[in-house]
Amino acid sequence: MKDINVGLIGYKFMGKAHSNAFSMLPMFFNVTDNIVRKVICGRDEKSVSSAAKKYGFSEHMTSWKELIKRVDIHVIDITAPSDFHKEPAIAAAEAKKHIFCEKPLALNYADALMMYKAANEAGIKHQIGFNYRYVPAIMLAKKMIEQNKLGRIFHFRGAFLQDWIMDPDFPKVWRLDKKVAGSGSLGDLGAHVVDLARFLVSDIEKVSAISETFIKQRPSVQEMTGLSAQKKNANAIMEEVDVDDATIFLMKFTNGALGTIETTRFAGGHKNDMYFEINGEKGSMKFYFERMNELLYYNMEDEEEYKGFRLIQASEGIHPYMQSWWPAGHVIGYENTFVHEFYEFFESISNDTNTKPDFYDGLKCSQVLDAVELSIKENCWVNVNSVR
Ligand SMILES: NC(=O)c1ccc[n+]([C@@H]2O[C@H](COP(=O)([O-])OP(=O)(O)OC[C@H]3O[C@@H](n4cnc5c(N)ncnc54)[C@H](O)[C@@H]3O)[C@@H](O)[C@H]2O)c1
Repeated sequence: MKDINVGLIGYKFMGKAHSNAFSMLPMFFNVTDNIVRKVICGRDEKSVSSAAKKYGFSEHMTSWKELIKRVDIHVIDITAPSDFHKEPAIAAAEAKKHIFCEKPLALNYADALMMYKAANEAGIKHQIGFNYRYVPAIMLAKKMIEQNKLGRIFHFRGAFLQDWIMDPDFPKVWRLDKKVAGSGSLGDLGAHVVDLARFLVSDIEKVSAISETFIKQRPSVQEMTGLSAQKKNANAIMEEVDVDDATIFLMKFTNGALGTIETTRFAGGHKNDMYFEINGEKGSMKFYFERMNELLYYNMEDEEEYKGFRLIQASEGIHPYMQSWWPAGHVIGYENTFVHEFYEFFESISNDTNTKPDFYDGLKCSQVLDAVELSIKENCWVNVNSVR
C-alpha cells in the first residue's frame, strides 16, 4: 500500500465536500492505497490554516504554484471558482500530477481544449466533478439503458431548478459574474444535466436556446460561502449582472432523440431540484435528485392492467456502490456521490486504469454550453461540432 498525497485548492463548498469524501473513503471502501490529506491551499492564511485543521490536512499553503512544485504531491484537486481551473490544471499536468477538477471544466471550449490536451499529453489520470453520474439510482438507469430496457430512446427531458437568488437584494456573488463563472445557471447547473444527457442518451448534435437575466443589477457582496452571502452594507453600490438567471434549450441528439433542458435560479420552492425523464420505445424512467435513492421505471411490456411507473429503491446491496454502505434501504445522500467518484479516481491511479468522467467529457460539455450561448446570441440553431 503506497501513499497518494493530495494537494487541494479551495476549501469552501466543494473543498469541504471533497475533504469529507477523502475521510470517508477508507472507512467504507476497500481502497488499494492510502489517501493522504497532505496540503490544503487557499489565499487567506488564517482561513486556510483553520480549514486544514477542520478537514484533517497535515499542512496548508497560500501559493498554489509552490504546491504544484512539491515533489511529494501526487494529486492536485481543484475546487476554486471556474475561472481558476485552467491555470492550475495545465501547470499540474506539466508537473505530471494526477488532476481532479470541479465542473464546468473551464470558462469556454477553447480553454477546456487546452486543459484536455495538456492532461492527455502528460499521460496523467484526470477526472471532472460530474458527481451526479455517481448517484446509484442514475448508475442503475445507465445499466438499464445499456441492457436495452428502454429500447430506442425518443426523448430526454431534463431540468435543474433552484431559487436562491430570487431576492433582488441578494448580492452579486462570483456565480453571477461572467468573467469568473463563464455563465450563470447554464454553466453551473446546466453542465450537470448536459453531462447526464450525454452519459445516458448520446452526444448532442444541435441546440436552440433562449435565456433571461431577470434581475440586472445587484448590490456588491461582502462575504459568501456556498450559496449564501451577505451584501456589503445598506448603501452597497449596485453592480451589473452579466450572466443568465435562466436558460432553456431544445436539442437533437446524434442518435436521433429529441431533448429539452431548463436551468434556472428563479423557480420558487425548488432548492436543488435536478430531474430528468427519458422515454423510449419499451419504457420510460424518471429521476428526481431530491429523492435521489429512487428511480421510477415504466415498462411497456407489463401486463395491461398493472401498467404504471414502479418505484425502485436503488439502495440495496445489489445496486451500484450500495454494498459498501448500510443495510438495505438505509438511504444515502449528496455527500456519498463524492465518495463514489473519488473511489473511481483513486483506484484508477492505483491500478493504472482509465477513469470517467474525464476531461474529454468536460470538453464535450463545454462545447455544448458554448453552442447554447452562441444560439442565444445569434437567435438560431447551432451545430455543436461547429464550436471549435
Ligand atoms: N459538483 C458539484 O455538485 C458542484 C457544486 C458546487 C460547485 N461546484 C463547482 O466547484 C467550483 C467551486 O465552487 P464552490 O461552490 O466550492 O465555491 P466556493 O466559493 O464555496 O469556494 C471556492 C474556493 O476557492 C478558493 N479560491 C478562489 N480563488 C482562488 C485562487 N486564486 N487560489 C486559491 N484558492 C482560490 C476560495 O477561497 C474558496 O475556498 C466551481 O467550479 C463550481 O462550479 C460543483
